[in-house]
Amino acid sequence: MTAEIIDIIHEPQRAISEASRILNDGFPVAIPTETVYGLAADATRADAISRIYETKGRPQFNPLICHVCDIEMAERYAVFDPVSRRLAETFWPGPLTIVLPLKKDSAIHPLATAGLETVGLRCPDGYANELIRAFDRPLAAPSANTSGKISPTAARHVMEDLGDKLQLIVNGGVSPIGVESTIVRVDPETGAILLLRPGGLAAMKIADAAGRDLQRRAGGPAAIIQAPGMLASHYAPGAAVRLNATSVEPGEALIRFGGVSVTGMEKAAIDLDLSPTADLAQAAANLFEYLKRADASGAAKIAVTPIPNEGLGEAINDRLARAAAPRDGEM
Ligand code: TXA
Ligand code: MG
Repeated sequence: MTAEIIDIIHEPQRAISEASRILNDGFPVAIPTETVYGLAADATRADAISRIYETKGRPQFNPLICHVCDIEMAERYAVFDPVSRRLAETFWPGPLTIVLPLKKDSAIHPLATAGLETVGLRCPDGYANELIRAFDRPLAAPSANTSGKISPTAARHVMEDLGDKLQLIVNGGVSPIGVESTIVRVDPETGAILLLRPGGLAAMKIADAAGRDLQRRAGGPAAIIQAPGMLASHYAPGAAVRLNATSVEPGEALIRFGGVSVTGMEKAAIDLDLSPTADLAQAAANLFEYLKRADASGAAKIAVTPIPNEGLGEAINDRLARAAAPRDGEM
């Protein structure tokens, strides 16, 4: 099997109708979102969700984010506390996932939540939102890549990785944000907001909207967290990744930020700047594509210069730390 690609600019109606047909048959479809491409399937069906895990080769104890088209749909499945509601009202549709208690008898299948009593819900924008509205059921969707590999930010990335395992890839162009959603969980008693995964929505914006600081886990970016499945070695390219590089060895690939000069850069296998103007949003959007290019250069090591840890830099550094983490076991 080789996946068909339908372009949402050229065939907007068929992009919805064909995707809906395949979802109704219980199969996954790769779809564009503002963060990364997702491998979406009906979140209420065990057979459909199993096929996501099977296609990605993902361990089944890892819960999936379920995508809804608005707060009303979210309320069919989960219970909002006031702070979570405020965040949803402020940032949905957008790159924010909120972990919420499941409603009793929620139709979301336990395979999607790995049997937890909570569900991670996100309301994406654009085509994905339209598709969910048309389908009228939530879509479970992890990133559309083989488990442990770099997330896709273009239809071509999905084709190269999973094209022979899928029926359909919907092409919506390059994902504008380029890193996965930020995941938070609010303590319903205290209203404290725990940052479970830094992502495409800067933590500062969430703190501003909620009027309180976010709590982070101890242990730094690559620590294993409460979100089961936030495994240290994730987003891994084939090459080893060396962080906070101030020089580059001959033959290493180089990923820079903000136009900095690095000792030995003229001998790098490839020289990429995530954002010559030091724009963190641009750097996030380029991150996964550049990691793939650095990897494809054939270099055994990728040297990455320091990235400021503010705003979207927190998500970038989190993904880089995971890319650099020891690869004990493919997770
Ligand atoms: O941007 C995104 O979030 C992308 C696009 C496709 O929407 N999706 C995505 O999904 O990254 P996924 O399934 O790869 O990310 C799931 C993350 C995992 O780290 C998982 O542990 C956490 O969300 N998660 C899901 N449900 C959870 C829950 N009930 N409690 C805690 N963490 C949860
Ligand atoms: Mg992923």
